[in-house]
Amino acid sequence: MKKAPLNVVILAAGKGTRMHSRLPKVLHAIGGKPMLGHVLERTAALASDRTIVVYGYGGDAVPSVFANAAVEFVRQEPQLGTGHAVQQALPYLHAGGTTLVLYGDVPLTRFDTLANLVSKPGLRLLTATLDDPSGYGRIVRDKNDRIVRIVEEKDANAPEKSIREINTGILCAPTDVLRQWLSKLTNRNAQKEYYLTDVVPLAIQSNTAVSSAQPSDEWEILGVNSKDQLAYLERVHQLQNARDLMARGVTLADPWRFDLRGELHCGTDVFIDVNCLFEGKVRLADDVKVGAGCVLRNADVGAGTEIAPYSHLDGTVVGANCRIGPYARLRPGTRLADEVHIGNFVETKATEVGRRSKANHLSYLGDTTVGSNVNIGAGTITCNYDGANKHRTVIEDGAFIGSDTQLVAPVTIGRGATIGAGSTITKDAPEDSLTLSRAKQVTIPGWKKPVKRNTK
Ligand code: UD1
Ligand code: CA
Repeated sequence: MKKAPLNVVILAAGKGTRMHSRLPKVLHAIGGKPMLGHVLERTAALASDRTIVVYGYGGDAVPSVFANAAVEFVRQEPQLGTGHAVQQALPYLHAGGTTLVLYGDVPLTRFDTLANLVSKPGLRLLTATLDDPSGYGRIVRDKNDRIVRIVEEKDANAPEKSIREINTGILCAPTDVLRQWLSKLTNRNAQKEYYLTDVVPLAIQSNTAVSSAQPSDEWEILGVNSKDQLAYLERVHQLQNARDLMARGVTLADPWRFDLRGELHCGTDVFIDVNCLFEGKVRLADDVKVGAGCVLRNADVGAGTEIAPYSHLDGTVVGANCRIGPYARLRPGTRLADEVHIGNFVETKATEVGRRSKANHLSYLGDTTVGSNVNIGAGTITCNYDGANKHRTVIEDGAFIGSDTQLVAPVTIGRGATIGAGSTITKDAPEDSLTLSRAKQVTIPGWKKPVKRNTK
């Protein structure tokens, strides 16, 4: 038998006045991803057959950010309430199955919570019992504990306001009856809005079962209305990321000081010190240690490598048993073989470094191919840019580059060559020879220091 279709309607038309931003609220990020992106990720996990995003404020900003998502966008203008918002999505719904309503500004609802909600028939409300229910619609139950309606705070009397079970706004219903209920909504209420919550009495009238489910954690149902709430959910999300990693064996020096804005895949016995940030796709193999304050974006780090504090790796592949940092900057196109040492204040870009080579201090290696067992002295600079074009430097196996050398590309340093410290190398240096270009040292005997003239 074919599974009944699942529609998901995501309400995202609200302006988010209290965000004080030009960006539509649902485009503000949690863990580096727009809130709406989190909701869409969950929707995809639920294998929805159709997803409709109801947007409004911010012109085409929302649809353009998600232009490649398998989503229908419907504009709601003007915004006459949550019931009115779902009405806009009706033309797009598959008939016969279930429709789940989510909010674009409630980003952290767990998959299991939503899967449980949609797993049972009838009108299903996600509710929660809060110590402070103010601001939310309250769930009104009869003496047999059956849900009879939802009353908005602005329409509630004092006893209703004392109810602590609230409507999270997330609900699901059989699509065909939901369509009928929505056509019967009115705006006779304190806010003159078409309330989605008014489907509850309509469901009861049509003999549809009304039941509720609860999330396992309160943060799952929290929405974002301000920067303060955005920051709070960011920490909740990051703590969840940290816990997932720890559950898989990663050691985090402090799970409250950990940030992931992408994907992090770790091998066994990985250690991550405080205040590190991971972006894009990062892979850390077995026994990798990442020191405090490192930023890794799109990086692949081999087993046993240690990255000392405050290093920055971007678009970089690092081999096994390397030593990086502290204060190293590895830019896109950097590929290090095994056992390479890149020390403090060394910057690399579009550079390959062979096995066991070292650049330990204060260097720039751009557009460079470094062989194996090369030693690059402190202060070595590859002059890869002539003001118009970039050129490559090649340093062959076993070469030794003395400190404070400039290698003016295009240039090749032959296998086993030694470059004397302080040289400016503009021509290829032959294998196994000493090449240097500094002026000869002279001493002037009997030279007298200048004496200050007496002006008075
Ligand atoms: C709604 C519920 C309330 C619930 C609360 C949870 C109704 C009538 N009330 O309150 O019971 O406790 O959510 O937060 O449903 N939106 C649109 N178009 C509109 C109006 C809203 O897209 O015309 C979107 C908003 O962008 C937001 C969501 O719907 O994502 C909820 O709107 P909001 O105004 O925050 O909630 P309330 O209506 O106050
Ligand atoms: Ca409202």
